[in-house]
Amino acid sequence: MTTRPRTPGPNTPAPGKLPLTELAELKARRQPLVMVTAYDAPGGRLADAAGADLILVGDSAAMVVLGHDSTVPATMDEMIVLTRAVTRGARRPLVVADMPFGSFQVSDEEAIRNAVRFLKEAGADAVKVEGAGPTLSRVQALVGAGVPVMAHIGLTPQSATMLGGFKAQGRTAAKARKLVDDALALEAAGAFALVLEAVPAPVAKRITELLEIPTIGIGAGVDCDGQVLVMHDMLGLSDWTPSFVKNYAAVGVTVAQAARRFAEEVRERKFPDPEHSYR
Ligand code: KIV
Repeated sequence: MTTRPRTPGPNTPAPGKLPLTELAELKARRQPLVMVTAYDAPGGRLADAAGADLILVGDSAAMVVLGHDSTVPATMDEMIVLTRAVTRGARRPLVVADMPFGSFQVSDEEAIRNAVRFLKEAGADAVKVEGAGPTLSRVQALVGAGVPVMAHIGLTPQSATMLGGFKAQGRTAAKARKLVDDALALEAAGAFALVLEAVPAPVAKRITELLEIPTIGIGAGVDCDGQVLVMHDMLGLSDWTPSFVKNYAAVGVTVAQAARRFAEEVRERKFPDPEHSYR
């Protein structure tokens, strides 16, 4: 009997790609997971070279790349273009595409159609959806259709207006208990990982202990199974960052200095010099 050559499908890991199923094993081994956002091919390539386990093509792109005041305006078509660019740059990390506001709220069918676009057109490995409650059945439907889903609770920026702004969540006993219940329900619905954003550290710790799937924190303390930061915040490219962000570089300052030097040299006719000109 001949075996058919294996043709990679949308869910086949690329050579060297971290298998999705290994995330829970990494949690069991207490090996922290590293996730970073990226929005273009160089970002994907650099996150890969840095050894990130996961790359999130976040709808934070609406704010840090496209200049909006919130993540709500991000569209499916914009997110597809950005995700496709990231998957061209990144080989090993699992690429998770953020489902933008409006792309999964209407019906299971529409959510599946949009998630499938991320996998087929953009080469993503998984999608992320915000919220619990009504989102639970959506997570179940997506997983049932073969789409790996990362969940996201706490501060969910797509519903920031309903949450009273970009602020920490789960700060009363009742609200903390609700977060724990939501986390357990999302795990039961089939999510393979859970982002906890702007959640008090003890609440995130408790959720992390209770779940078998890994938690990935952003502003949720050190006890989560992994951490995520928005690339542009981490690099010092954003005008404003939440207090939980640590700047690991001042790339904004470096870019501004370089652009200023270029402008000066052009005005002083120092650039281009003979070395940077054709004879
Ligand atoms: O859109 C995004 O970048 C996110 C992260 C902050 C988790 O959802």
